[in-house]
Amino acid sequence: MQDDLLSQFDLSGKTALVTGASSGFGWHFSQVLAAAGAQIVAGARRIERLETLCSGIGANDGKAHPVQLDVTDAKSIGNAFDVAEAAFGTVDILVNNAGISRSGLLLDLQEEDWDAVLNTNLKAVWQVGSEAASRMRSVSRGGSIINVASVLAFGTGKGLGSYMAAKAGVVQLTRAMALEWASADIRVNALAPGYFPTEISGDFFSSARGQEMIGRIPRRRVGEVNELAGPLLLLASGASSYMTGSVVTVDGGHLCRTL
Ligand code: NAI
Repeated sequence: MQDDLLSQFDLSGKTALVTGASSGFGWHFSQVLAAAGAQIVAGARRIERLETLCSGIGANDGKAHPVQLDVTDAKSIGNAFDVAEAAFGTVDILVNNAGISRSGLLLDLQEEDWDAVLNTNLKAVWQVGSEAASRMRSVSRGGSIINVASVLAFGTGKGLGSYMAAKAGVVQLTRAMALEWASADIRVNALAPGYFPTEISGDFFSSARGQEMIGRIPRRRVGEVNELAGPLLLLASGASSYMTGSVVTVDGGHLCRTL
């Protein structure tokens, strides 16, 4: 019984493509999925970092292949899936993780910044997700897509309007994908992390505003990336076979704080 339960999380024989794998969550997600048995295709723009990541996974008896990927470029997306297929076969698990943040009050925001945030955080989720789904469908394999949203899809933060709009869009896009692709056995769920120190958050958490914000989190601390491992593995694996269109929040209680 215990073996059966644990085997639900086993990803042996699966191929997983992780976008934005050169740092932060993507780096960690690649290691977690590899440790669960998946063959990893690590995609991002900074290829040298991906090479380091992949050799580290290889040194731990995992299998990983780096691919240069700009998620805002349709050609680059197609190429990444071609490379993945040549290395390991059709992608079974996609983690749509790449993201950026450009802060600015709405009245000051430059159009270029709005476009960059929406293109990377929302449009790319649609384009990379669609590429994955059409390839999964063409070989009748099904699969699991995990879109990385944020608690800022639900809560608010001054100066983060474009990011909030993009991440709220990711939540609804996740549901749209789940609805349209369920018949092809493709499950699509979102992970909505709270606050975790990575490159995207810079030195915000050591600032006065950051400290004040941490004080409002019921757990009274930011998250550690390894606290996303379990939720990620749940969504990636057969352990969540009846979950699609769900949003899993991992935020130390941030969204349920008292007003
Ligand atoms: P990060 O800055 O370390 O990672 C983002 C990754 O995306 C980087 O490797 C970056 O190079 C890559 N990326 C950006 N634009 C790209 C493009 N055009 N093509 C390919 N790769 C690109 O930050 P973190 O925290 O690991 O972010 C990962 C995801 O998690 C993002 O979607 C972010 O919005 C989301 N998130 C992060 C939270 C946090 O507190 N750190 C909280 C909630 C969500």
